[in-house]
Amino acid sequence: MTLYLIIVFHAILLESNGGTSLKGKDLLSISDLSREDIRLLVADAVDMKVAGWLSLLSAKTLVLLFEKPSLRTRVSFEIAMRQLGGQSIYLSPAEVGIGQRESVADVARVLCNYVDAITARTFAHRTLEILASYSSVPVINALSDLEHPCQALTDLFTIYEKKGKLEGLKVAYVGDSNNVSNSLMLAALLMGMDFRIASPIGYQVQAEIMHTAQEYAADSGADLFCAEEPQLAVSGADVVYTDVWTSMGQEAETEQRRQIFAGYQVNNELLSLAKKDAIFMHPLPAHHGEEVTEGVLYSPQSVVFDQAENRMHVQKVLLAEILGGLEITSVNYK
Ligand code: CP
Ligand code: NVA
Repeated sequence: MTLYLIIVFHAILLESNGGTSLKGKDLLSISDLSREDIRLLVADAVDMKVAGWLSLLSAKTLVLLFEKPSLRTRVSFEIAMRQLGGQSIYLSPAEVGIGQRESVADVARVLCNYVDAITARTFAHRTLEILASYSSVPVINALSDLEHPCQALTDLFTIYEKKGKLEGLKVAYVGDSNNVSNSLMLAALLMGMDFRIASPIGYQVQAEIMHTAQEYAADSGADLFCAEEPQLAVSGADVVYTDVWTSMGQEAETEQRRQIFAGYQVNNELLSLAKKDAIFMHPLPAHHGEEVTEGVLYSPQSVVFDQAENRMHVQKVLLAEILGGLEITSVNYK
């Protein structure tokens, strides 16, 4: 009750300061958010993590529409809704046949008359865009081939928890430039964090994302550095981040990718080039012995299980703001 009052009090404070609102908005990409949105989301997650169960979304429902498997995203969204007093319904890849049994537009037209928001995990990012354009309720990206914004927001919150700040930190990403690195790169640069990415030729950042990233870097004053050599990216970094070499949907390329990415493993030798107090991050699931060794994954520097837990806290804030229209801010954010 006390925490609920604190959040409401923060809401009033924020309103009087002209704070941002995500109420009713889609979240398909990090570029749907402003720097202030992310600053407040991170701040609010600090409060939300200690708040536990709240009755902010009673009488609200969320559908989870997934074309790909999931552990963290599905469970953290479902528990987030439950802890906020709302309800969720999960639709597995086999159930709906998005775009096969029924057109993407019709799926959106139907679902939006049942629920208050749609969280979708898709192959094509375009599927999310079509869902959003035909849905009268907000659509949240739970991972597409292009972006994973809920993961990136959680990653920034986790870095903030561990380091006490965001701006000025150096993030090094090693490996495939994919949905996870795209969202992380955009979010980090927007918040004034230096971002270095090391990927092999042919697996580097695609042009459109790079264009936005360069704009964000120019605006925030952060450095953006792309290289082929992992050592150049990791040297002196505060955060070392990697993800799988083969993402969902790319399974046929697994062997080829193992060969191409062989030099991009985060192991103790590579991690030793980062700052002594650097943290290691990974969205999970991890492929042990491929992109990361067990020695790093389970080392004291690894924060991967805090990252996984934080998905729930950050998504509670997102849901409260998008569905409930609650504008909250925090006294904890420096
Ligand atoms: N990190 C993440 O999105 O995990 P899942 O694929 O298990 O949801
Ligand atoms: N890049 C990975 C992330 C999984 C959370 C994938 O898309 O499979």
